[in-house]
Amino acid sequence: MTSGWQLVCVQCGTSWPALSLRYRCDCGGTLDVQHDFAKAREHLTLDALDQRRASSDFLDRSGVWRFRELILPLEDPTLRQVAVPRGEGNTHLYECPGLAREVGLQQLFLKHEGENPTASFKDRGMAVGIAVARHLGLERVACASTGNTSASMASYAALAGLKAYVFVPKGKIAAGKLSQAIAYGAQTLQIQGDFDEAMTLVEEVCNQVGIYLLNSVNPFRIEGQKAIAFELLQDLQWRVPDWVVLPGGNLGNNTAIAKGFIELMALGLIDRLPRIAVVQASGANPLHTAFHSRKELVPIRAETIASAIKIGNPVSWRKSLRGLHATQGTVTEVTDAEILDAKALVDAAGIGAEPASCATVAGLRRLVREAIIHPKDLVCGVLTGHVLKDTGVIVDYHQGQLKGIPTGKANPPQVVESSLEALLAKLN
Ligand code: F0G
Repeated sequence: MTSGWQLVCVQCGTSWPALSLRYRCDCGGTLDVQHDFAKAREHLTLDALDQRRASSDFLDRSGVWRFRELILPLEDPTLRQVAVPRGEGNTHLYECPGLAREVGLQQLFLKHEGENPTASFKDRGMAVGIAVARHLGLERVACASTGNTSASMASYAALAGLKAYVFVPKGKIAAGKLSQAIAYGAQTLQIQGDFDEAMTLVEEVCNQVGIYLLNSVNPFRIEGQKAIAFELLQDLQWRVPDWVVLPGGNLGNNTAIAKGFIELMALGLIDRLPRIAVVQASGANPLHTAFHSRKELVPIRAETIASAIKIGNPVSWRKSLRGLHATQGTVTEVTDAEILDAKALVDAAGIGAEPASCATVAGLRRLVREAIIHPKDLVCGVLTGHVLKDTGVIVDYHQGQLKGIPTGKANPPQVVESSLEALLAKLN
């Protein structure tokens, strides 16, 4: 089933063989995987997908490979040789009545992608990127990262027996994420610059020495990421939400989710598209500016406490705008104070997520206030990373140690003398 699908340039439309070792067209444009829908349609019915979900086969059970004909349509035995069996996806969809009330909605679902194997949504795209690396016979992989991509790549590469190189901005990624890259054995290069500089450098290094690049400029990363859209619908028993809201940094994830919905519609498995809302931190908002000014994206120097989305020159902006227009979506921006206030709510609800993820809830609160999202709309937010990824921010917030951030929802730990009376006196 390898014929009939190809890579197509987003900028000039030139097509390339599906499994080419390239991330861009000769014109510099990024590439899309274009699938053979007739082939995919033979396998992907809603019943078949529901049966696969209940199966114990490792490909069927994975929240990525379950949708394989629309992600990486290799022959079955080949895919079984190159895929790392680890059951990514299958993340919980929380119904959140309390949070819904807080943000002014009647019903709110949050899909927690922090419940993936390395605790972020990146595992879905990485599962596919690593499988393609193996299929192409490459032994070395690399990425630039604000932390989660590198954690995911380091782990998948180790499981697949590949050598991993991680480029991260020194001192600018959360300790949980840096620890993962080191622990999983990647050579971790802390660049004295920001993520955008690391991103430019890693692409140059990969092109020069033939290391496989696993940032979301790699079109197969986007293919795996699409599975969030598929699984979200499956969780909702194929009911289409009105809105899907998620944070935007390098803009791979919203590109992928939009592509996923558009393809399901082309296959006839859904009859309308959800609208996509991307939330950016106001100090890292180049997509917000480009979208509302209807101009090309102008890179900026990014600044936000949500280090995962501290990106000023996003690689996938062109693809991202295409998905936003196709789904009649929007882009909003939120301050660091709004992100941390929303995070305090998400965490105290018992769900918990890292700061960038909580931009989702801050953004949808803003969109409801602006009457862009209506109280009766069926809304799904995506939480992208686990609460333990960035514990430094939690402790600092609750102890009132973040300059300029109101800490109205702080729950500081208290010190108490080691006696029963002292403890009883402290209980509130
Ligand atoms: N949320 C989290 C927790 C992230 O780690 C990222 C991106 C995003 C949101 C934004 O997703 O880039 O697809 O728009 N993290 C990348 C990384 C850049 O290196 O881990 P995006």
